[in-house]
Amino acid sequence: MKDSYWRPISIDSIDPEYFPLIPLFLKSSGNYVLYKDAERPFTSEDRRRLERSFTEFVYVRSGDMLEINRYLESNLTKLLGRDDLNSTAKGKILYQSSVNCVIDMFESPESSAHIERCNSLIRHMMKFAATGSHILDAFHSIAGHNFYIFVHSVQVTALGMLVHEKLFNIEHDEMMDVGVGSMIHDYGMIFITDKILDKADPLSDIEYYKVKQHTRKGYEYLRDTGKFSEVALNIVHYHHERFDGAGYPSGLKKDDIPRSAQVASICDVYSALTLDRSYRKAVSHQDALKTMKQEAKAGAFNVELFNRFEELVTMMKGH
Ligand SMILES: [Fe+2]
Repeated sequence: MKDSYWRPISIDSIDPEYFPLIPLFLKSSGNYVLYKDAERPFTSEDRRRLERSFTEFVYVRSGDMLEINRYLESNLTKLLGRDDLNSTAKGKILYQSSVNCVIDMFESPESSAHIERCNSLIRHMMKFAATGSHILDAFHSIAGHNFYIFVHSVQVTALGMLVHEKLFNIEHDEMMDVGVGSMIHDYGMIFITDKILDKADPLSDIEYYKVKQHTRKGYEYLRDTGKFSEVALNIVHYHHERFDGAGYPSGLKKDDIPRSAQVASICDVYSALTLDRSYRKAVSHQDALKTMKQEAKAGAFNVELFNRFEELVTMMKGH
């Protein structure tokens, strides 16, 4: 069975009281083994047992995701409001839900139902970012699957919204557009073959050329659905532009690059560096910032914006 058939669920996001009756599996040396069937509810004892064996994730069949999403998203307000869950656990729940939503967005970005779910998650993320200083901690907890692109998309969204919230005084509607645009910023990657994306060796010139097409292809496809605002589409289109004009696809310079895309490009690189990839291990928060500072000086980013970003994530990390 293909790996994409299985979806990981963080056990922190399972509330025994409300979790739907679906079979859960454990991953054991590459195989998926039934942990409990649909008849038996998941209990607090299950949670404790799994925690004792340091199990962080259970797996469900992708066909059961509809029910899980319904459960997670309809209980989100309740789950995030609970006093007995710490903010790391709440972060995991929010990330889990958001990753599930981004997966569905990538499958059918024109679906109004998915866009509505996205909007609702972005609203939760905004609230969570405003109250929880643990937002960065939650980032790594759901990483490490074959879900890089989705986890990365959610990270870029959370970071991008944090930056907009703290540094710019923008209207609620624009904030929502920034959120949606960030969630689907790499949508164009669906047009790139897995062979290129999973490659462990450096890309050839032709392969790199193909990867670079993801901005324009994603932009054109999403624009043609007629469902996305200019702010959201700008992020998809221009998140690989460089401040000095050496980026792609258009080679825009300085403030010709829409601000939301300037922010997205910084968050994009930070997230990419601090997550494990097929070709290298994750880099620490400090090392990522160090590398990026050099890049900023060399012309990759708006230096002033980068400095403020650095201050912000350092403050969040040092809480
Ligand atoms: Fe990208």
